[in-house]
Amino acid sequence: MENKKIIFSGVQPSGNVTLGNYLGAIKNWVDLQEEYNCIYAMMDLHSITVRQNPQELKKKTLDLLALYIACGIDPEQNILFVQSHNHCHAELSWVLNCYTYMGELQRMTQFKDKSKNHADNINAGLFTYPVLMASDILLYQTDLVPVGKDQMQHIEICRDIAERFNGIYGDVFKIPEGFMPKAGAKVMSLQEPTKKMSKSDENPKAYISMLDDLNVIAKKIKSAVTDSEGIIEYREGDETKAGINNLITILSAVTGKSIESIVSEYSGKGYGDFKADVAEAVVECIRPIRAEFDKISQDKKYLTDIYEDGAMKATRIAERTLKKVYKKVGFVV
Ligand code: TRP
Repeated sequence: MENKKIIFSGVQPSGNVTLGNYLGAIKNWVDLQEEYNCIYAMMDLHSITVRQNPQELKKKTLDLLALYIACGIDPEQNILFVQSHNHCHAELSWVLNCYTYMGELQRMTQFKDKSKNHADNINAGLFTYPVLMASDILLYQTDLVPVGKDQMQHIEICRDIAERFNGIYGDVFKIPEGFMPKAGAKVMSLQEPTKKMSKSDENPKAYISMLDDLNVIAKKIKSAVTDSEGIIEYREGDETKAGINNLITILSAVTGKSIESIVSEYSGKGYGDFKADVAEAVVECIRPIRAEFDKISQDKKYLTDIYEDGAMKATRIAERTLKKVYKKVGFVV
């Protein structure tokens, strides 16, 4: 790989990739590929911290890969791989478990939330999840980790673990920075617009899956919760306006028009027309991605070649770091 800064990120292949994931993350990754060496993984090891249906997990992992590519992430220019295909992740994770304190892990908000939501399955993997995530990042001597705000605490603990390890053994790990690309739109739930659009929402009307039927997408937007004021105006921080703010944000992100120009374009118009236009714009944004996805996901050989090549490249880089770690801690290598 050329001498560019390294970006690492990943998505769990559980749940559905939403319009929020696309506009907030994946779309921006496409712009990063020129400037950085980007490594993106399908985080299947992480996803089994909550119970998964095996057939579905397998399908969703491959769908996610096909979707990345359909969204414009070039598999030649970037490394795309399945986390479990690179043995280094689980191995480094074990070592770093021994350099992470129970107290640190107990403070993680995601752990607290997930233990509440899956009270019947508070397993050790859920608890050590951040250590595996730190391993993902540190194996590649990553400079930048594009993530959402909810993952920033995990980046912090990753830095703490890396600094602790480096403090004992010298410079083994690059200390990564989390970053939230400015361009990313924050897309909210269509049903409870003060909440983030989530792929695991129980109510499927609350989110748009990138793999939803195009008619369903239009319907979901048309039935998005708004308010009774009837004025298309963007009022940041005004909760009563959260639904309209969200639709304006979405329209702006998919068309590239500014918020101001949208507001002036729709001044005096009704919510019905506005929603119909948002629905159409979103459908037109997703249509070519879907067409590409349908083509790619049928080509099993193409996908297999990509993830095998990705696993080979990722493993080659990661093994260098893992070997250094093994040497430092005193394993016979
Ligand atoms: N925890 C991340 C999420 O749920 C996914 C993830 C796992 C990740 N390992 C990572 C993201 C490493 C960035 C870097 O969104």
